[in-house]
Amino acid sequence: MPGALPDGEAVPRDGSLPPGTSLGGRGFGVYVHVPFCASRCGYCDFNTYTAAELGGGTSGEAYVDAVLAELALAERAVTPARVDTVFVGGGTPTLLHPDDLARILEAIDRTWGLAADAEVTTEANPESVTPASLQRLRKAGFTRVSLGMQSIAPGVLKLLERRHTAGRAPVAATEAREAGFDHVNLDLIYGTPGETADDFAASLAAAVGAGVDHVSAYALIVEDGTRLAARMRRGDLPYPDDDVAADRYLAADAALGAAGLSWYEVSNWAAGPSARCRHNILYWTGGDWWGLGPGAHSHVGGVRWWNVKHPSAYAARLAAGESPGHAREVLSADDRHVEDVMLRLRLASGLPLAVLDGPGCAAAARAEADGLLEIRDGLAVLTLRGRLLADAVVRDLLP
Ligand SMILES: C[S@@+](CC[C@H](N)C(=O)[O-])C[C@H]1O[C@@H](n2cnc3c(N)ncnc32)[C@H](O)[C@@H]1O
Ligand code: SF4
Repeated sequence: MPGALPDGEAVPRDGSLPPGTSLGGRGFGVYVHVPFCASRCGYCDFNTYTAAELGGGTSGEAYVDAVLAELALAERAVTPARVDTVFVGGGTPTLLHPDDLARILEAIDRTWGLAADAEVTTEANPESVTPASLQRLRKAGFTRVSLGMQSIAPGVLKLLERRHTAGRAPVAATEAREAGFDHVNLDLIYGTPGETADDFAASLAAAVGAGVDHVSAYALIVEDGTRLAARMRRGDLPYPDDDVAADRYLAADAALGAAGLSWYEVSNWAAGPSARCRHNILYWTGGDWWGLGPGAHSHVGGVRWWNVKHPSAYAARLAAGESPGHAREVLSADDRHVEDVMLRLRLASGLPLAVLDGPGCAAAARAEADGLLEIRDGLAVLTLRGRLLADAVVRDLLP
């Protein structure tokens, strides 16, 4: 089950923001969390629930009604010029009927107005889309699909407890392109116990072969409380190996680079600037976004808040006319600095040295001498070796 939420100051019942909070002007996004999955994968600790866990499930229509109620409350709290990006994530958004997803998108457009060139992404599980559902989503205004492929190797998919067959993800990506999606992402996970170098090479080749313009590749994280963590604790499976993970990362960068996809964030590769995920870039560069749905996080002008996690608690708050916000915090200048360094150093566009203090600049010079950073035009950019050690480099740059 998903872990507990952090505490913070209370969110007012009407969901209003602290007086004086204003949008930062770096773009406005909307995140929609769909907390439903057909089954829980053994490694996943996201805020998501199966029908059995919800006591027989919940109707898509009731969920959308609750999201629309939160949107009405959000409309009173913020007035962005327009919505630049929408990202529907999960859970499994495509467990909802495409008409339900379309209803959410229409409501966002009616409320704040979607920019003419808005990026509108939905995550999707490979087995939960069809050519017809993808066509309906494209027609509704979705512009991008992000599919959880994880691996092409049947043994790895089985260990991860995925529901789809090995070949399904690349086929779904092709179906998405045929339905008119110019922007399609495949998520890969590397470093699963038992995965061989050949397995991962085959996963990369299959992703590239599907003609997608974006790939995300994540090292397997063993999250507390998951079935995977329990199997490792019992000694039934070995823990992931850092050296193997580093080898896989280098293999990903080489294969994706050879296919014309270059890194723009440590775990993300795209076929040129227009293929980059603008919604995630907004997160990484201090933009504002409203997160709708159970457990969704939001950030507006230095105020961060998060909703109650359980779908029933979320629906109950909104049925009572109250904000689903569980708690919030106002970021201090120090908090913002730490976040800025952490997120922007992971980007290929680099971290301006001007944001670092004296000791931070000295640490950057040392990292450059060690071959971990490249410094040019006042920007610090991770080298390939630096990307393998990104967390350690960030730690050295911070007070
Ligand atoms: C929350 S999932 C939603 C996508 C969709 N439900 C799916 O699984 O196909 C988004 C992505 O997070 C990544 N992910 C989730 N848990 C992870 C973990 N423990 N370690 C590494 N990556 C993880 C997976 O690549 C997954 O595709
Ligand atoms: S389908 Fe995606 S969100 Fe659902 S449990 Fe699996 S990884 Fe997590």
